Amino acid sequence: MSNAKLELNGQTYEFPVVVGTEGEVGIDVAKLRVSSKAIALDPGYGNTGSCKSAITFINGEEGVLHYRGYPIGQLAEKLSFEEVAYMLVWGELPSQSELDDFKAKLDEHAALPASVLALIKTFPEQAHPMAMAQAAVAALEPASHHVAPADDADAHIISIIAKFKSLAAAIYRHQKNEPAVASETDLSYAGDFLQLMYGRDGGNYEIDEAIEEAINALLILHADHEQNCSASTVRMVGSSQASIYASISAGIGALWGPLHGGANQRVLEMLQAIHEDGADYQKYVDMSKDKESGFRLMGFGHRVYKNHDPRATILKKSTDRVLAKLDKKDPLLDIAKKLEQVALSDDFFIKRKLFPNVDFYSGIIYRALGIPTNMFTVMFALGRLPGWIAQWKELRDDPKARIYRPRQIYTGETKRDVTTIAER
Ligand code: CMC
Repeated sequence: MSNAKLELNGQTYEFPVVVGTEGEVGIDVAKLRVSSKAIALDPGYGNTGSCKSAITFINGEEGVLHYRGYPIGQLAEKLSFEEVAYMLVWGELPSQSELDDFKAKLDEHAALPASVLALIKTFPEQAHPMAMAQAAVAALEPASHHVAPADDADAHIISIIAKFKSLAAAIYRHQKNEPAVASETDLSYAGDFLQLMYGRDGGNYEIDEAIEEAINALLILHADHEQNCSASTVRMVGSSQASIYASISAGIGALWGPLHGGANQRVLEMLQAIHEDGADYQKYVDMSKDKESGFRLMGFGHRVYKNHDPRATILKKSTDRVLAKLDKKDPLLDIAKKLEQVALSDDFFIKRKLFPNVDFYSGIIYRALGIPTNMFTVMFALGRLPGWIAQWKELRDDPKARIYRPRQIYTGETKRDVTTIAER
């Protein structure tokens, strides 16, 4: 493909074109400012590639999502979260012995340090679980650990993945004023998470296979999503050579927002509000179309997917299965289904290509499983962790990586002299 040309003030500048393995085209403007003194202005970064990456491929127009080449549907149906996490972080699916070794290490490192459990207990029980998760991950950083790229990153990676499920469950139990229980070694990641959440120390918690499968699939569906807000935050922070703990903690903060992972909590709160308001879903659809209202239908729309969110398609089926299995009749689910029907046949939504996203259905499953609404975004973080780590590792292993430092177009006052208070 020939170079891209830019004409500016009568001068022509040429820029190399970069083509990805799936045919994605980028114009490499790394030399734009040096050669032309202009910058690329792209608020919200909708047209800006911040890196080359071999981890996740999305074709938003066609609703395609692959992790390292593997279609998301196959991954969610056939594999364990441990296999997917391993593949995201280290590039290939593990052999049986690699998987056994990985699982043994996850078991070995699952226990939280007493200091981190104590830290969680310092939060008021009503504190948001994401605030506790952010603080607890930062507090996992060993005192002796100092970031240097030469550090033994794999040991830290395994330790964070191993501990995050213990941490999420400890936060849940703190909210209920219950002590944390110990991890169990012969369980899957999803199974142990359920046991850590609902088990009793020394007691036999019976894990329902269908629920374990649903949690496993949910974790896989959330495991990575290329350069979204939280992954970019993890890379941004990591680019300063801050530690993996600081980088992941920052990613948790970015995920918390209602336009990103926090949407799953907001979906449920919205469905609850509609329910309490007499189930008049049409009123809420109309309100979301009125820009003045400032209200959006939570769980609809996506920056990248403009056809369907493949994760939502898989989750929709899984939601039906879980609800049938648990024999749950949920008025909020009925509202969700009606809202979906109305929105999908409304011109406003059709024209803007607004479809239910992953957060629309995940909240309904979490609710059916008895997970409290304010824990939903922690569930998202639990799944997303290997993706953040893979993104952090890819940046750290790139010898050409530079600190992330965007530019701006300044629109403030031009130079002026300071006046004293008496002169103003
Ligand atoms: N309800 C009503 N209108 C909407 C919605 C919505 N949920 N989302 C977008 N629009 C309208 C928006 O008003 C705009 O209309 P117009 O062109 O007339 O000005 C148009 O659709 C495009 O919206 P945008 O804000 O430019 O789109 P964006 O790409 O900047 O935002 C989004 C994407 C996901 C933040 C947005 O769709 C939204 O706020 N959705 C609700 C929150 C949500 O569900 N977030 C979870 C995303 S999926 C999980 C994840 O991957 O993080």
